[in-house]
Amino acid sequence: MKPFSRDTWVEVDLNAIRANVETFRGHLPKSTGIMAVVKADGYGHGAVHVAREALASGADSLAVAMLDEAVILRTAGIDAPILVLGYTPADSVETASRLNVELTAYSTEWIVSANQRLEQAELRPVGVHVKTDTGMGRLGVRTTADLLEVVAALENSAKLEWTGIFTHFACADEPDTTHVRGQHEMFQSFLQALREQGKKLPKVHCCNTAAAIAFPDWGYDTIRLGIGLYGLYPSPYMKERADVRLVPALSLKTKIAHVKTAVEPFTVSYGATYTAKPGERIATLPIGYADGYSRLLSNRGEVLYNGSRYQVVGRVCMDQIMVRLEPGLGQVDEEVVLYGKQGNEEISLDEVAALLGTINYEVPCMLNYRIPRVYVRNKEVVEVFHPLAMKHAPEKNVNN
Ligand SMILES: Cc1ncc(COP(=O)(O)O)c(C=O)c1O
Repeated sequence: MKPFSRDTWVEVDLNAIRANVETFRGHLPKSTGIMAVVKADGYGHGAVHVAREALASGADSLAVAMLDEAVILRTAGIDAPILVLGYTPADSVETASRLNVELTAYSTEWIVSANQRLEQAELRPVGVHVKTDTGMGRLGVRTTADLLEVVAALENSAKLEWTGIFTHFACADEPDTTHVRGQHEMFQSFLQALREQGKKLPKVHCCNTAAAIAFPDWGYDTIRLGIGLYGLYPSPYMKERADVRLVPALSLKTKIAHVKTAVEPFTVSYGATYTAKPGERIATLPIGYADGYSRLLSNRGEVLYNGSRYQVVGRVCMDQIMVRLEPGLGQVDEEVVLYGKQGNEEISLDEVAALLGTINYEVPCMLNYRIPRVYVRNKEVVEVFHPLAMKHAPEKNVNN
């Protein structure tokens, strides 16, 4: 039985994930590790499969945004170090201990509360990375005094271990380096203050993809590689610089569900915003905004068919879109590429992001659980992951 019934799928090229990790490995000092950022289900690519490939290709640890994402990785049998980058309420610290997942901290109250809970439950200590806010204005301590207080609280906690210190850059992907250099200087001054207090620094990290590309010598103990892992550049400017060559890993594909030639003019989709002219071929594709193909692509998006570009016509529906093909073209079950390459043409996630007025990060993150992920290595399908899998369907005919 086919692992999914509707022919709409995301293809993830594991060779691309490997190539991207190896590219960063070659770009960075040998002493700098690679923490693969697989939050948001691996930026929509599938966290478990990307994590496995990244670890097999030279990454040595993983990062997620929240503890639940770490639970998924551990449940899948991944035993590499995992850091939760975001806030974890202290009442979830027992899970982190049981699963040996490191957490992020930036407040003394949290440290006291988390430590108490672990002591009461008599659980193993949890590793904690201290987050410093050097100019992102999000999570983290902003002053040396607060940093020293938080570190002292950690050192006084029997059930918490100070295992890391980090910061996150707000503007590392821009041509003007004033802000990122300012943030790095502040981070360095935090590190210096700790050294002056006689502290032995734990794992130090600050670089996201953009900073790792532009400032590889700021790698410290590890970079946190997110968007670059997936073969995407953090901004059009970073792509232009071309310091590293990345290979996009994700394609979005479907097959034609219906196709008709307009004999008389007919209107297409809700709101009748497009009228097919006589002779036009209108193909219906089984994907819509409920899959994460944005309604903002109505009458604007393009797809690849037969190696050429064709226009989305009419409004994107919840489960379907229509495209205009040339007269004579288009048969049911023929393949159409929505994102990715076909022949010599490519619809990049950068292009889609520009159409949507957003960044490439958001485009794969929008593709949701309705779409199966098909993992490909050396052009062969190696695994299919589909939360709506046919195996959950009743085995027997329900009428029997
Ligand atoms: C704290 C932190 N570190 C690293 C990353 C990875 O960033 P990028 O995807 O730009 O490499 C993110 C992603 O937003 C993040 O929030």
